[in-house]
Amino acid sequence: MSLWSKHAIFEKNSIILVIGVLIVISIGGLVEIVPLFYLKSTIEKVQGMRPYSPLELAGRNIYVREGCYNCHSQMIRPLRDEVERYGHYSLAAESMYDRPFQWGSKRTGPDLARVGGKYSDEWHRDHLNRPSSVVPGTVMPAYPWLARTDLDFAHIQDDLKVQAKLGVPYSAEMIANAMNDVKIQATTDHADVTELEKRYLKAQARDYDGNPQRITEADALIAYLQMLGTQVDFKLYDNKANIR
Ligand code: HEC
Repeated sequence: MSLWSKHAIFEKNSIILVIGVLIVISIGGLVEIVPLFYLKSTIEKVQGMRPYSPLELAGRNIYVREGCYNCHSQMIRPLRDEVERYGHYSLAAESMYDRPFQWGSKRTGPDLARVGGKYSDEWHRDHLNRPSSVVPGTVMPAYPWLARTDLDFAHIQDDLKVQAKLGVPYSAEMIANAMNDVKIQATTDHADVTELEKRYLKAQARDYDGNPQRITEADALIAYLQMLGTQVDFKLYDNKANIR
């Protein structure tokens, strides 16, 4: 009996084939799953990562609500073409506070994992309002209502509490100050900005939507876009790890 005729046993008996498939898949599964039980953490700690400030979190909720993830991913793969276009490949730690994560599986538009600081607030304002005004020929839809709609942050404390339940380290102090932190970060009145920065490292407080009288959805969304990928200082990491 040659090796191939032995294989015929599997091909002729579907039950034996199914059992064989299950055994092979279980071995593969165990190799992937078992280490998760004894490794302390599968995410390497990275300096600089902090939870989203309340305004950024509100902006992130708008990002999810509007379905931006249908066209934009937030994960740079460790491949040369991606690294050269978008910057350092994404680290696991960079999405450790993303619940739900925004890795995405579709790129009609570019990856946004490091879009923070790439453009001015004004550019984002124009782009969200009418994308073709800054990028002729773009297929991105317009979101003109964002700049017109007041941000509803009455429930921002609850948003932080839910995130905290899911494991994001929001302290009682952060939750208690959430409403106020939204106001501080979205206005030009920088009175209490040191308090905000103490709670949220490198949080940028300014009037994002160009309308200092109101806190709009555009304020929140642009604050979120402007901080994406800016938390980790990659100069601290080995440059050689940059391109593989
Ligand atoms: C139908 C697909 C589509 C959707 C939905 C979409 N975009 Fe885009 N986006 C694009 C395309 C295509 C581009 C590239 C051309 C351009 O800049 O407009 C782009 C570009 C961008 C850029 C500039 C990225 C860069 O590095 O130049 C940002 C920022 C952005 N989109 C944010 C958003 C946000 C925020 C939303 C949700 C409110 C959103 N997009 C929804 C397709 C989309």
